[in-house]
Amino acid sequence: MLLEVKNLDSGYGDVQVLTNVSIKVDAGEIVSIVGANGAGKSTLIRAIMGTLPAKAGEIHFDGRRIDGVEPHMIARAGIAQVMEGRRLFGHMPVEDNLLIGGDILRDKARQRENLEWIYGMFPRLKERRHQLARSFSGGEQQMLAIGRALMTSPKLLLLDEPSIGLAPIMVKFIFDKLPAVRDRGITILLVEQDVHRSLNMSSRGYVLEHGEIVLSGTGQELLGNERLRAAYLGI
Ligand SMILES: Nc1ncnc2c1ncn2[C@@H]1O[C@H](COP(=O)(O)OP(=O)(O)OP(=O)(O)O)[C@@H](O)[C@H]1O
Ligand SMILES: [Mg+2]
Repeated sequence: MLLEVKNLDSGYGDVQVLTNVSIKVDAGEIVSIVGANGAGKSTLIRAIMGTLPAKAGEIHFDGRRIDGVEPHMIARAGIAQVMEGRRLFGHMPVEDNLLIGGDILRDKARQRENLEWIYGMFPRLKERRHQLARSFSGGEQQMLAIGRALMTSPKLLLLDEPSIGLAPIMVKFIFDKLPAVRDRGITILLVEQDVHRSLNMSSRGYVLEHGEIVLSGTGQELLGNERLRAAYLGI
């Protein structure tokens, strides 16, 4: 098992958002967390990344306990995230944004190899590699944010709503790349409101409601679940 969250409680100050959350992610999987606005999806990502404290429970990654560990050490251990809002360095050219992501590696040959792989996947980034990131469209920024996370050669990629604010064709373009990312040995934990699209490409999924996991199963089981269909697919 690559990631295990066990009976996690977390939140902001005195406000508890997550209650008794347990999830598991095996190496090589794409796993989805689905849930409505405010369910606690981003909070769970923050707790895994160590930017929010665990008030109870444990988080284990790649054989180590990581709750309470500094976020930059968690990144070094092999977790990369693409947060909502993307957080790029707008004043820097595209390629510098990517190389900063790769800095964590120290291995220059590996950085080059990752850069070429990312440029192959997102040719638009290569064409515009000298352009400033802030001049990018929303879709291009999302490609860049994903590229920067992938530059670190993570074992686990946390994606928080990669589809947000993007045109359907761009959403499809980005989602279509995820199996290739997984096939390169990068496990993916995907948080999405596009329930249909994310569960379809996931081996398993969890449904988060009001900070608690209320359902779990294979992607296909969840897509066939009446409660999920009524709540999230409107059918
Ligand atoms: N910085 C914060 N301080 C206090 N409360 C917060 C903070 N960030 C989020 N919350 C609260 O935590 C709850 C869960 O928010 P969270 O952002 O995790 O939801 P989400 O499932 O990611 O929603 P969305 O789909 O809208 O992104 C919400 O009630 C929200 O108001
Ligand atoms: Mg969120």
